Formats: sequence, C-alpha cells, structure tokens
Amino acid sequence: MLKLLGALGALRKRPLEKIIGDVNGVKLERRLTAWNLILLGIGAIIGAGIFVFAGKGAASYAGPAIVISFMISGLACAFTGLCYAEFAAMIPVSGSAYTYAYATFGELIAFVIGLCLVLEFLVSSGTVAVGWSGYTVSLLKDFGIMLPDAFTHAPFTLDGSVGGIINLPAMFIVFVLTILLIIGIKASAFFNNIAVFIKISVIIFFLIITCQYLNIANWTPFIPNNTGVFGEYGYSGIFKGAAVVFFAYIGFDSVSTAAQESKNPQRDLPIGILGSLFVCTIVYILVSLVLTGVVGYQELNVPDPIAVAIDKIGPAMGWARPIIKIGAIAGLSSVILVQLLAQPRIFMTMANDGLMPVKFGKIHPKFKTPYFGSIVTGACSMLLAGLFPIGVLGEMVCLGTLLIFTIVCLGILIMRYTSPNINRPFKTPWVHVVSIGGALISFLQMLALSGTIWLVFIGWLIFGIGYYFLYARTKSKLHSC
Ligand code: ALA
Repeated sequence: MLKLLGALGALRKRPLEKIIGDVNGVKLERRLTAWNLILLGIGAIIGAGIFVFAGKGAASYAGPAIVISFMISGLACAFTGLCYAEFAAMIPVSGSAYTYAYATFGELIAFVIGLCLVLEFLVSSGTVAVGWSGYTVSLLKDFGIMLPDAFTHAPFTLDGSVGGIINLPAMFIVFVLTILLIIGIKASAFFNNIAVFIKISVIIFFLIITCQYLNIANWTPFIPNNTGVFGEYGYSGIFKGAAVVFFAYIGFDSVSTAAQESKNPQRDLPIGILGSLFVCTIVYILVSLVLTGVVGYQELNVPDPIAVAIDKIGPAMGWARPIIKIGAIAGLSSVILVQLLAQPRIFMTMANDGLMPVKFGKIHPKFKTPYFGSIVTGACSMLLAGLFPIGVLGEMVCLGTLLIFTIVCLGILIMRYTSPNINRPFKTPWVHVVSIGGALISFLQMLALSGTIWLVFIGWLIFGIGYYFLYARTKSKLHSC
C-alpha cells in the first residue's frame, strides 16, 4: 500500500527550507504584534462554546462538574497548543497544520488536513453564525421586535422536530463579515479588537454581578448520578461533556495562520497561541462555576444560558440582560471573523502548492487580500448557516479539528527524529509525554462523537481524497519533480 502511494507521489514531502524560502516571496503586510496575536486568539476562541454549548454540556452530560470537563478539554488543548507553538515558530507560514503535515507526513496527509481545516474554519464559522442568530433574535425580542420562526431556524433537524425554512440572520452576519475581510486585514483587525474588548468586558461584568448570587446548594451534587435525560452524568458524563465543550477551545491554532502577517513570528506566535489559550481556560473555569452556581444545571439546556443566569438573579437585574446579549453577539462576531479570515489563507497556501485551483492564490490588487477564497468561503458558510442546526455543525467541526490535533501532536515528535538540527525558536517541553498525551486525548475525544456524524465525516474525506487522486495530485507543484 505504502509502495503504491509512494509511486503515485502521495507521500512526497515539501522540504522545510523550501517552504520557509517561499514565504519570503509572498507579499502580505507584516503588521501584527504579539498583543494582536493574543487578541486574535481570544477573538477566535471565546464564542459559541461558552455562550451556547456550556449550558447544554452541564444540563445533559456533566452537571456542575462541567467545570472539570472544561479543565480536561483545556489540558488536552494545552498539550496540542505546545506542539502548535513549536511548529509555528519553526515554520512561520500561513498554512498552519496543513503546511506542518506537508513537511512531516507528505502530500496526501497534508491534503486530508486541508479537508479537516475546512471543517474547523469554514463549517465552524457557519456553526457560530447560528449561535449569533440565536442571541440576536433573543435580543430583538427583548425590544419587542419579533422575527418569524420560519426565517430564523434551519429546515434540517437531527431529532425529527419541525424546523424552519432558512436561518436568515445567520446568513446575514457571514455576508457582512466576508465583505469586511475582503476590504482588508487592517479594518478586520480593528473590528476584531473592538469585538474582543466588548466580549471580555461583558464576561467580567457577568462574573462580577452574578458571583454575589451564588447558591452553593446548586453545586450539590457536584457530579450527579447517572440519571440524566440522555443517560449521562457521573464520571462518563464528565468526559462526554469534555468532548462537547472542546468546541469552546477551537481557534487557538488560527493564530498560526497569521504567521505571514506577524512582525516577529518566531517569538510572537508561541506567545499568541499559549497566551490566548491560557486566558480563555481561566475565563471558562470561572464562567462555568458561576453559571452552575446561579442556575440549577437542569435548567441550562437553552440556547442562551448566560442570559438565563441573569434572569435567575431576579427582575432587578433585568437591565443587564441586553448588555450580556450584546457582549455575546460581539463575541460570536469576532469568532466568525477570525474563522472567515483563516480559511482563505489556507486555500491560498494550498493553491500556491498547486493543490487548489490557482484562483484561490490570487491577491486583490487594491485590498491585498485573498478575495476569491474569501468569496467562496463566505458563500459556503452562508449556505451551511442557513440550512443546518448548531448541534450537527458543531459535532462535524469537533471531529475534523480533533483529527488535525492528533496529527499535529504526532508530527512534532516525528520531526524531532527526522529533522533534529532545524532551528527551533520554541521547543515543546517533555515532548514525548506532551505529544503522545495530546494525540491520545484528542483521538479518544473523537470516539465520543456520534455515529451519524462519523458517517458524514468519512463521506467528506472520501470525496476529498477522490478529488486529490483525480485532479490535485497531477497539478501539485511537486508533480514534475
Ligand atoms: N471556540 C469557538 C467558539 O466557541 C469556535 O465559538
């Protein structure tokens, strides 16, 4: 099998020196500092995971112990984050895990990573847009503006319940942010900084006003018995909860896609990745503790758990409800923005390698952005956001991302043996434990996801691999070598 793949060229690798050398020829503007990268990371990370999925994780799987689920998932991401930091400092180019895999495992695995990155960024932007729509509809309702259900809900549902016709608000936000991204990286970074500022301020505001209303009784039992609606809770529920809230951490790796727009990538990329991951883990632990301390976990299976916590405090705090929702809307917007920013840059890198049509590599002469990739990304994301519910999209995203994380963790260990002398400005500590531990936890989390989602995922991989063998393989820049 390996011989056949080798003969077909699927195992050919891009030499590291060549990858790094090629970057110097690409003219993206180097404007981002370490702080910008941390903010970019926070912008990409804090979103639907805490504003939407944390409530479901507590209500259906882990109870108040959802805080332990966040810690487990955070630990797994910290392992992966360390491996990403080493790769990002060693290979500071926009392609992220795709480029790392090209140098380590060869073209076919790199292409598979490219397919999974589409799930992580493109599908994920649609997922978060559905969460954005939920909070926006709810905010408008607070002001007496009712949008019809048929145009704020997807037609397809997983549980057989009646859906709507199309989710228009979710499509709207993707459209607006796509335009912003085409106009330029500077305008986008400015918007992102404001959105991150609002999101963090509102989370701090939420923590301050709600922590006075903690009811310790809500934390007892901290790990409820196995009697949950879906038969969860108990220790297994904590692990299922960890797989669900994993979504909350997705995005720290998108910092690495800004490598070519960073002023000092070798120093700043590890700071951006690990710094944003650290801040977000602390935020998640605090928010989930307060959430389950204010509201009984059974009441948290709602699309806007943070707003429910404010309601619980009583009518006196009713004025805070719209503020919290505006914060959530800003937070979700920044996540969508960073994801829509990352995807076209991955397409661009793949196009430059010959694995995607050349149009994806074109930079707009005036705006200096990969406009064609942005338009395709925006259009596909709008379709997904308009037609599918958040749960289905979220699980697809987690599955694809966890496969990427597994490969990145293994890749860093392999590189230590295959390229021991390459310059590593950042080195993963305890590399054997971190790399194997990160890969193992990520793989186990994949197994916790549902069979239906696995089938769709396998279908997507078969489609993509078919495209690779029938088209991309012969167009690859390495083909004639
Ligand atoms: N981590 C991002 C979110 O929670 C994807 O929305």
